[in-house]
Amino acid sequence: MIIFKHPKDLQSYIQNGAIDPNSIGFVPTMGALHKGHISLIQTARVENSLVVASIFVNPTQFTDQLDFEKYPSTIESDILKLEHSGCDILFLPSVADIYPNGITTNQQYNLGHLDTILEGKYRPGHFQGVCQIVHLLLQIISPGKLYLGQKDYQQCLVIKKMISLLHIGTSVIICPTQREPDGLAMSSRNVRLTSIEREKATYIFKMLNYINENSKAEDLEKLEQIVQNKLTEQGFKVEYVAIADQLTLENIQFRDKPSTPVALIAAYINQVRLIDNLILN
Ligand code: PAF
Repeated sequence: MIIFKHPKDLQSYIQNGAIDPNSIGFVPTMGALHKGHISLIQTARVENSLVVASIFVNPTQFTDQLDFEKYPSTIESDILKLEHSGCDILFLPSVADIYPNGITTNQQYNLGHLDTILEGKYRPGHFQGVCQIVHLLLQIISPGKLYLGQKDYQQCLVIKKMISLLHIGTSVIICPTQREPDGLAMSSRNVRLTSIEREKATYIFKMLNYINENSKAEDLEKLEQIVQNKLTEQGFKVEYVAIADQLTLENIQFRDKPSTPVALIAAYINQVRLIDNLILN
């Protein structure tokens, strides 16, 4: 695996090698890699001749300074994991490489309501920061395919929208959420959970399944409220429990049309914010 730190070096490697963009699969990450990331690399490996991963903790997408400062960093083991999973290139830039003119965010992506609902409501500016960095990375790497995990469901829709707004020729491949044996969605933030919190965290996936089991019988707004109350009783600080259209994330009140909703939850256990989602059947 080759490690590039400077955008220009990576760009000229790709351009001088006359690599066909359609054969490049790209997996953007913020490091602290777990099996979820590795499954993205493995999928990209099967579908592309060149697999590029990036590790960059992007300051412009954090709305909470503490979350940014506490974001786990395990760079040495990340490098080993990438090597073992068949990644060809790691892009590992510094903040100064990415933002040579200083860290600035200028709201410029017209994401519509996706920017202001659910994650957008609780983390204002977050998706502008995500679009800013992913747009920059796509300009440097020009991949044919971009691999994202379904765990960040709204992020997947936002990035798809940004790519279509800017007419970027990259396809987005959304890969299934990887879960621990007890159902907890894999996340870099899970390492911040104490053992008691870790045990409690499984309740989020249990509640998504509860929604799935009851969504045909119940009024969906009532079901959201029931689940919110159950999570609160368990000690979670709930930000949202939402049952929404899979493509637009508009709220759905009744399953009266052949819709395929997605249920989404964001909740804190003490200091740690967890999100998860499940497409209902
Ligand atoms: O999902 C993430 O880890 C980040 O939001 C991403 C896509 C790497 C952009 O910084």
